[in-house]
Amino acid sequence: MSVNKCLSAQKLVVGQQAGSRVLSGGAFWLGRGPVGMDDTPDLRSLQSVMVKRENFKTCTQSGFCHRNRAYADTAASSSTWETPYNLDSSSIKFSNGQLTGTVLKTVSSTSEFVLLPLTITFLESGSARVTLDEKKRQTGEIELRHDSKAQKKRYDEAAKHVIVGDVSGSKGAALSRDTEDGSTRVHYGPAGAFEAIIKHSPFTVEFKRDGETHIVFNERGFLNMEHWRLEVKKEVKEGEEGENAAVAENVEDESTWWDEAFGGATDSKPKGPESVALDITFPGYEHVYGIPEHASSLSLKETRGGNGAYSDPYRLYNADVFEYELDNPMTLYGGIPLMQAHRKGSTVAVFWLNAAETWVDIVKSRSAVNKMSLGITGTTDTQTHWISESGILDVFVFLGPTPKDINQAYGELTGFTQMPQQFAIAYHQSRWNYVSGEDVMDVDRKFDKFKIPLDVMWLDIEYTHEKKYFTWDPLMFPDPKKMHDHVAARDRKMVVIIDPHIKNTDNYPIVEDLKSKDLATHNKDGKPYEGWCWPGSSHWVDCFNPKAIEWWKSLFKYDKFGYPNTYIWNDMNEPSVFNGPETTMPKDNLHHGNWEHRDVHNLNGLTFHNATYQALLSRAKGELKRPFVLTRAFFAGSQRTTAMWTGDNTAEWGHLAVSIPMVLNQGISGYPFAGADVGGFFGNPSKELQTRWYQAGAFYPFFRAHAHIDSRRREPYLAGEPYTGIMTQAIRLRYQLLPAWYTAFHEAATSGAPIVRPNFWAFPADEKGFDVDDQLYIGSTGLLAKPVVTEGAESVSIHLPDAEPYYDYFDYTTYRGPGSVTVPAPLDKIPLLMRGGHIIPRRDRPRRSSGLMKWDPFTLVVVLDSQGNAEGSLYLDDGESFEYQQGAYIHRRFSFDAQTKSLTSTDLASKGPKTAEWLKKMAGVRVEKVVVVNAPTEWREKESVRVSEEGAKESRRRREVGLSWHEGGSGKASWAVVRDPGVGIGKGWRIDFS
Ligand code: GLC
Repeated sequence: MSVNKCLSAQKLVVGQQAGSRVLSGGAFWLGRGPVGMDDTPDLRSLQSVMVKRENFKTCTQSGFCHRNRAYADTAASSSTWETPYNLDSSSIKFSNGQLTGTVLKTVSSTSEFVLLPLTITFLESGSARVTLDEKKRQTGEIELRHDSKAQKKRYDEAAKHVIVGDVSGSKGAALSRDTEDGSTRVHYGPAGAFEAIIKHSPFTVEFKRDGETHIVFNERGFLNMEHWRLEVKKEVKEGEEGENAAVAENVEDESTWWDEAFGGATDSKPKGPESVALDITFPGYEHVYGIPEHASSLSLKETRGGNGAYSDPYRLYNADVFEYELDNPMTLYGGIPLMQAHRKGSTVAVFWLNAAETWVDIVKSRSAVNKMSLGITGTTDTQTHWISESGILDVFVFLGPTPKDINQAYGELTGFTQMPQQFAIAYHQSRWNYVSGEDVMDVDRKFDKFKIPLDVMWLDIEYTHEKKYFTWDPLMFPDPKKMHDHVAARDRKMVVIIDPHIKNTDNYPIVEDLKSKDLATHNKDGKPYEGWCWPGSSHWVDCFNPKAIEWWKSLFKYDKFGYPNTYIWNDMNEPSVFNGPETTMPKDNLHHGNWEHRDVHNLNGLTFHNATYQALLSRAKGELKRPFVLTRAFFAGSQRTTAMWTGDNTAEWGHLAVSIPMVLNQGISGYPFAGADVGGFFGNPSKELQTRWYQAGAFYPFFRAHAHIDSRRREPYLAGEPYTGIMTQAIRLRYQLLPAWYTAFHEAATSGAPIVRPNFWAFPADEKGFDVDDQLYIGSTGLLAKPVVTEGAESVSIHLPDAEPYYDYFDYTTYRGPGSVTVPAPLDKIPLLMRGGHIIPRRDRPRRSSGLMKWDPFTLVVVLDSQGNAEGSLYLDDGESFEYQQGAYIHRRFSFDAQTKSLTSTDLASKGPKTAEWLKKMAGVRVEKVVVVNAPTEWREKESVRVSEEGAKESRRRREVGLSWHEGGSGKASWAVVRDPGVGIGKGWRIDFS
């Protein structure tokens, strides 16, 4: 039996069994996916295997990836090879910052031209955008096979879902023609410092900043737009099928042009081959970062073999790859096609806006020629090759020059992450599953009993009645309101899961509605697509359809589902289809507007979580609380509405370790609200691993413990001492630092800066730190955490990027760089340093939930740098509503000046209609303590400092308050404490230490 036949037989078995397994409490999980199933799977052995690699394509198994790699190899290896793409000089027009023209592709077999309309737009922001389409498909002059109803065009609507910024051309961009070398040049960007050189023959585009080349398109000639053609049935002689035939005749490999089989499913490809590919070179750049999501290092590896390199390209094709392998370019649940190239003094980036399956090859080479004449200073070039299955070519170019500039520009284009509610950045407790309402209330009580802070209790799929979303299991959750009210009593919230698959069953009004209103994704024949997921047979809501979004919104009204403290978790939205090819939907399925699933696959999850976000916004009239939605699948733009987590990891040290670069990568890729399942989803962590994971998780922007249904219960209070105590300390540390975290979120929400930052981002000139990806800086606070990710560790080595003093957060032991330092890390110690020169806002009173900290006073930790200065900031709003948009927030800058020996608080906020009311509410919230780390010895004898505060009553306007100085002892900085200065957190004030 051929492999494919064997697989489809197995798939059938899964289909038949799924329903009953699902009803028996989730055990079906272990066997999901069409491969490797038999009638009675051995659940234990299945559990211990890694990802079913064979379920997912390699580049060789993906027709268009394979073809484009072969194309690239031909281009690179043949001395006579010429790229067939030339820009028709006579077609070029330029107006309002936009160049248009036609690229002609010469088809070698017929010598005909394929017309490819080109636009290059120079945006006001300084970014540039290049698009290339295909005339015949654009104008519908093609025929589709199999009477397909699919759109004839190349997909050109990704921007509609992703771009929120201004993409009109800049009036300042200026064109000049260079007749000598047949190129067109455009000066653009800030002060005209950027230049695009568009060479006509062969067609290439080179991007320069200050006269230096940073990015080149099609330098290696891998540009390839597979144009539409009629299928010509060829007679295939025996022994010359597929690829062999191509090799034999030295023509293009057509074996995967018209259909393609994998895992027992055949893709009918009504539009034939339509891939789009381009090489993008970063001359002089050795490091590239980004293109999440992969379980890999932050600095991306080479992908075409060789020492330590991958043999497959990085793949972006959102998929349910549970128990993923580490150090691997395989696709995972989400994708963001943004890549940054970095070297000392410069960061640039490209954003490949394409939602189809995409592969990215990376090769680094010593610069072959001396490029000093081009002003290129680096000695290594990074050459990348981007390959997408369909759609138009649409690429944005950012010329930096700093990582901060890239995130700002990318954020202006695709949106910034939103200010979350405060609870969302506190601690979340989840597992698959809390089995009943009583169970939830019991866990909630235990957290109180053990004095462990907690903000959110989560419910996984088993809360539903037979996996029917928007219902409650009547036996186990008979009174969901009581449960919600119970957790709300301590200002806690609930998050419940709602997935996009809708159970295909009788007497379920939701599925009846979905079908009767025709709101489901269609199969290639235009009928509601049916596949298998948790509920067994299911349909998928098609959130590309505006009507489906309206319907989805209606399901969340309070009279239908949920309570004011219910928030939503969207899972399986890649979408995961257990019996589908690569555990997802067939590519020839049709979405609203008759776009093929192939074209929009990577956007699918985004449309679904955006619909849920809209739904939460419109639950009740006048209720304007910020929604919270967690998603597993994502694309560029997902950051605007959701948090993400890294899916189904495993309770192993390696998975803990990889979570750090993965979370960092999300941050630099514009989607910073990210975390990994604390404790590891699959399996049972040792107590040591669990404890270390809490210590690491306290530094994920999204901090949630979660576990598989077959794993043992592991709420932190169950571990016993010393573990429970240590995990409690880690959670409390998170709560203590919530003001710093919230301020970091605000920075992300207004400038796109990552919430946790890798070394290269925070210190772009520190060459030794470019591949450091196991330690993180929290916002601009100067806090530097290095989670322990190995068993039995007693110390860690921390890379210090500069010569400032770094102080241990807990005991002020002082470390100095640049270089690595060894920091003790026994189990009860979190390696956490404070860089000199920062002021860190905290709230020190332990509470049961973050909501109960609303009126608590603040502590400011002033960490002096080598010159005796420090500065920091605090952002604070109601942590819940949108009133901050009308000025209901506090934003202060704190600075300690070595000259005047004074600490001041000044205003950074802009006033709005709600400012005064908010400040009044916060009038009683004060600074209760100032700690100065590395306090000068001359303060030893000092007993008081002078405090003055704006607008205070006469008696409080100028006061003396107590100061105590403490000797640090060997290797530790001395510190001083100003006790109860009593100044308002929202006020201007000054504390004089002179
Ligand atoms: C998926 C999710 C996991 C969840 C499970 C059941 O595997 O990734 O977090 O617990 O589905 O809903």
